[in-house]
Amino acid sequence: MQTPQILRVLALAASVSIPVFSAMAEGEIPVGEFASLTGASASFGQSSHKGTELAVEQINAAGGVLGKKIRLITEDDQSQAGQPATIVRKLISQDKVVAILGEVASSKSLEAAPICQQNKIPMISPASTNPKVTEVGDYIFRVCFIDPFQGTVMSKFARGKGWKKIAVLTDVKQDYSVGLAEFFVKDILANGGEIVREQKYSTGDKDFKPQLTSIKAAQPDAIFVPGYYGEVSLIAKQAKLLGIKVPLLGGDGWVGDSLLKVAGKSLDGSFFSSHFSASDKAEKVQNFVSKFKAKYGEVPDDMAALGYDSAMILADAMRRAGTTESAALRDAIAGTKGFDAVTGMITLDANRNASKSAVILSIGNGGFEFVESVQP
Ligand code: PHE
Repeated sequence: MQTPQILRVLALAASVSIPVFSAMAEGEIPVGEFASLTGASASFGQSSHKGTELAVEQINAAGGVLGKKIRLITEDDQSQAGQPATIVRKLISQDKVVAILGEVASSKSLEAAPICQQNKIPMISPASTNPKVTEVGDYIFRVCFIDPFQGTVMSKFARGKGWKKIAVLTDVKQDYSVGLAEFFVKDILANGGEIVREQKYSTGDKDFKPQLTSIKAAQPDAIFVPGYYGEVSLIAKQAKLLGIKVPLLGGDGWVGDSLLKVAGKSLDGSFFSSHFSASDKAEKVQNFVSKFKAKYGEVPDDMAALGYDSAMILADAMRRAGTTESAALRDAIAGTKGFDAVTGMITLDANRNASKSAVILSIGNGGFEFVESVQP
């Protein structure tokens, strides 16, 4: 009897969800996404995912790409080292994705990039700013600026304020933090500034009082803390408790939903650099902000905007390539020029990075305020 056996096979296939039945439906283009939807940097993954999801929804509502709908297959790396590699292997070998979007945190992107490169699957990071990410190879791209630029944005700002004696507090577990500290310090020293104390911590630490006590003793004019929002919020609180009054300075890693919830007023008077301001009056930005608010009931942050742009740039490249075949798609992404994105004009350079302006924001009155935009 043929039929029951076929039914049993189909039932088995369904129960173990063999990907050929789930991901490869006719007329769909499978695109992978890996993000920290849970864990220590959940704010990064949730935001970038929402932006990416909104973009895919809009692309599909407008008829899709090359006559097909994009099917976004999203996996949660739980903010944990080791997960990106496993997930990206699964997306490539089981789901047969034609491209991969992710991650926000540079260390996570650095884990996944060699696997995408080996398999010749284009990867576009929305927000990883460490230069090493795209150095992995010619299939790895990003739609954001890189930290040699971001580091000098903040060092120039500090110099402009007349802050000469700077302390630095780095997260040694994050490529992002180590790199950004390095570029910032180089520029401070090259311009007559002084690094009066360098201290370190590791992702997940809760007590920063020893490092902050040492920093306080060095009497800096400002403290550069190129970390992620979770630890930065605790550092800010503990700095205030220790009587440190000078401003903290940081980078895009400060952006996270719990930053001000935990830090309260202790970050008032501090400054950080980032990618995007939802209060930008440009029509493109306001249109995105209102669509995002309508769908998710919240104002999009940097990662949301960058996640959105990463998916839009991929779709644009597919259209220009006329195919999703790997080499042609790679070439089309590399050829991205003057793409009018919500985070600014995106042209990918020869090293597959975007050269874009950064924004400096100040913290006060329970929120962020736009200070200035800095051109590369
Ligand atoms: N640039 C950070 C990194 O490379 C990630 C990040 C981007 C965080 C944008 C917040 C906002 O790790």
